[in-house]
Amino acid sequence: MPLDGFPRYPLMFGPSPVHPLDRLSDHLGGARVWAKREDCNSGLAFGGNKTRKLEYLVADALARGADTLVTIGGVQSNHTRQVAAAAAKAGLKAVLVQESWVDWPDPVNDKVGNILLSRIMGADVRLVRAGFGIGFKESWQQALDDVRSAGGTPYPIPAGASDHPLGGLGFAGWAEEVRRQEEELGVFFDTIVVCSVTGSTQAGMIAGFAGQDRPRRVLGIDASAEPAETRAQIEKIARGTAELIGLGRDLRDDEITLLEGWAGDLYGVPVPSTVDAIRLTGRLEGVILDPVYEGKSMAGLVDLVRSGEIPRDSTVLYAHLGGQPALNAYSGVFR
Ligand SMILES: Cc1ncc(COP(=O)(O)O)c(C=O)c1O
Repeated sequence: MPLDGFPRYPLMFGPSPVHPLDRLSDHLGGARVWAKREDCNSGLAFGGNKTRKLEYLVADALARGADTLVTIGGVQSNHTRQVAAAAAKAGLKAVLVQESWVDWPDPVNDKVGNILLSRIMGADVRLVRAGFGIGFKESWQQALDDVRSAGGTPYPIPAGASDHPLGGLGFAGWAEEVRRQEEELGVFFDTIVVCSVTGSTQAGMIAGFAGQDRPRRVLGIDASAEPAETRAQIEKIARGTAELIGLGRDLRDDEITLLEGWAGDLYGVPVPSTVDAIRLTGRLEGVILDPVYEGKSMAGLVDLVRSGEIPRDSTVLYAHLGGQPALNAYSGVFR
C-alpha cells in the first residue's frame, strides 16, 4: 500500500524546517551543508525523530482500542519522552521502562532532562537496572503483563519505535518531504547524513528514497557502539518498510551504509570528537546537538567533509534528529 494509505495521527507542526549551515560549511571548506530539523518538528515536548514515527504507531494503537503505550529506553531516552508526549496528546496512558543503559556518573542523571519531562507529562516511569540492548527485553514484557493484569490494553512500542511493522513509515515520509522541499528550494541533496542506533530512522529514509528517480547516498553514522546489531536492524526494517509501501523491488546492499568510527566504545558516552562537534556547531551556527547521538553524527560529517570522502561539489543534508534535553545530564562535560 502506498505510504499515504496508512492512517496517521498528526503530532507534528507539518514538514520540519530545512536550512543551510553556511558558517559551518565555510569553516569546513568543502561540501555545502544543510540541516533538516526534527528537533523543531513539533510542539510536543521538544519533538525529535520518534514523534514522526509515532504518528503511525499512535494511529494504530487507537484503531486497536489500546489505552496504554508501553515502551522502553535508557534513563535519558529521548524516545520514551516522546512516547509520554504522544500519549498525553492522544489521551492515552504511558508506561516507560527506563533501563540503566549508560553508566554515566552524573548525580542528576535520573532526575533532569528527558526523564523529568516524562514525569511532568504524567507517564508511569519505571527505573530498571539492566544494560544497553536494542532487542526485546524482559523488563518491557513485564510492563506489558502488568498493564494487562490491571485490566488495561497495552500497545507495545519497542526501543526507538524501530522493530515494529510500522516503525519505518515515519522516515519513509521524511524522504518524500525532502523531495518536495528540494523542489521548493531549487536544491538537490546528493548525500544525507543520519545518526543510527535502533535503526528505523535510517531504514525508513532508505526505503523512501529508493522509490525516487535521482540516486543519492544515505550515510548512517553509528552511535550504538554495537554496529553489527544496528546494521542488521537497519537492513531488516528497510526491507520490511520497502515491501510495506510497495516499492516493487528488492533493496540493494549498496543502498544500506552504516559507518563506524565516531561512537567511541560505549553507547551514551561522548568521546572528544563528539564534544568538539557539539562546540563547533554551537559556536558557528547557534545549533545545539546532544552528546549521545547528534554530536556523534556531526563528528562523522565533519571528518567526511574534511577528508573529501564527501566531495567538495556535494550538497549534504544533515538530519538533526533532536535529543537536546539529555544535555542536562551531561553538564560536567562542558565545564
Ligand atoms: C536524538 C536522536 N538521534 C538519533 C537517534 C537514532 O535513531 P534510531 O534509533 O531510529 O536509529 C535517536 C534515537 O535512538 C535519538 O533520540
